[in-house]
Amino acid sequence: LESTPQTTRETSFIGKMKKTGKNIVVFYGSQTGTGEEFANRLAKDAHRYGMKGMAADPEEYDMSELSRLTEIENSIAIFCLATYGEGDPTDNAQDFYDWLQEGDADFSGVKYTVFALGNKTYEHYNAMGKYVDKRLAELGAQRIFDLGMGDDDGNLEEDFVSWREQFWPAVCEHFGVEATGEESSIRQYELKVHSDLNMNKVYTGELGRLMSFENQKPPFDSKNPFLAAVTVNRKLNKAGDRHLMHLELDITGSKISWVLDSCRNILAILEDLPSLRPPIDHLCELLPRLQARYYSIASSSKVHPNSIHICAVVVEYETKTGRVNKGVATNWLKSKMPTDNGHKTTVPMYIRKSQFRLPFKSTNPVIMVGPGTGIAPFMGFVQERGWLKEQGKDIGETVLYYGCRYKNEDFLYQEELEEFEKTGVLTALNVAFSRDQAEKVYVQHLLKKNKEAVWRLVHSDNAHIYICGDARNMARDVQNAFYEIAEELGGLSRAQAVDYVKKLMTKGRYSQDVWS
Ligand code: 2AM
Repeated sequence: LESTPQTTRETSFIGKMKKTGKNIVVFYGSQTGTGEEFANRLAKDAHRYGMKGMAADPEEYDMSELSRLTEIENSIAIFCLATYGEGDPTDNAQDFYDWLQEGDADFSGVKYTVFALGNKTYEHYNAMGKYVDKRLAELGAQRIFDLGMGDDDGNLEEDFVSWREQFWPAVCEHFGVEATGEESSIRQYELKVHSDLNMNKVYTGELGRLMSFENQKPPFDSKNPFLAAVTVNRKLNKAGDRHLMHLELDITGSKISWVLDSCRNILAILEDLPSLRPPIDHLCELLPRLQARYYSIASSSKVHPNSIHICAVVVEYETKTGRVNKGVATNWLKSKMPTDNGHKTTVPMYIRKSQFRLPFKSTNPVIMVGPGTGIAPFMGFVQERGWLKEQGKDIGETVLYYGCRYKNEDFLYQEELEEFEKTGVLTALNVAFSRDQAEKVYVQHLLKKNKEAVWRLVHSDNAHIYICGDARNMARDVQNAFYEIAEELGGLSRAQAVDYVKKLMTKGRYSQDVWS
């Protein structure tokens, strides 16, 4: 009698597919859960077309089995891959990515498609999805449907849904199968010419939501448009045979995206819509799993080899419905004291590699800009520079721009920072107290005030610039301050200054660790 130990993980997806009768495998590269959710939806979709799908984390399976997918009849590998940071793969797809790059596998006969998730405002838009799509083809796999591109800056959900609407019919056509469910046939319409129709009875609204024009429900988008009242319609041109017009549409009442705008969580939605009574087990099945939270490490591994420090703000805010939303992870962490009834308290954690690191050469100067909890990684940086100094290394200038509300309230790590300044580890400690006087003083104001020194460090001394903290306003305002300094002291035009900073970024001399 043989038994498999419980702890053995099934790493063979081919084995699992064969055992469970699956022919579609949907791999996801996901950092925050969206890619994973899309993969689960695609895996479920398969059922409607008489196929069986499973979502799979590439990190958990032996991806070298991909070439064996041909052993399963009518099989497809779908990849839902998010791009992270500077065009990087997500953590769980890193090994797969490395393997694809190095490997020379032969994927002949393997059928695949890719849906990429990314954000157009980033320079390396959907780099991971594009790469895998291209690389699989190079290695002989057969692309059965075009690469889909999801843009989180526009409407990721919409991009995904429209890609998927075209993808499944293409799969059906490819395998010569028909859908089993309602949406079964690929051809839905038949042409019939009507000559005597009452036009008032003809529905001209959007097909996506049939009653949407009578019963207007946000959120509004291209498939569910808002009916805006026309308040002005004026002909602009005084003469000529063209009609140039000026229109004004009243959008009052259109701006309630009910869930997002009021930050309603699932509980709040169910409370406010009592007619929704989903069975609790169904609800649990649909809930995505809790995602890992990433915090910047506020300590140096040289100084604290066995300890990781975190600096974070407990998230708590009032929503428009008057509810208080509490951040799940930070509130949980807040309650974690070193001992609880004599027992050691523990927190599950792992370390994620980061590109946000000190320059390789310790003699390079650094300019660190980190208001609020943006100070976190710089505590680690400063500790590390102090340690290097103690080892007798030459250390370049180490300049910090920190900002908080009041000197006497939230000047985080004041003693430590002042001590570092006293011992010369910090060359300059610049602190902007935003609320200690009538007008706001922010880190970027101090950068501008010290523009000569800043420009010298950047332009002549090869300084590395680091920005950490709020992504919405601070990072942009600070970047603008650097543009202005480059314009004023470098004699550059705005376009040249923008280009200058962009070049610093490509050289890894302008790095950001920002969050919203
Ligand atoms: P404020 O809250 O008084 O406006 C940490 O949050 C510090 O960053 C606070 O002092 C905060 O000031 C400040 N801050 C807010 N918006 C900022 C911005 N756009 N740029 C730089 N600092 C900012």
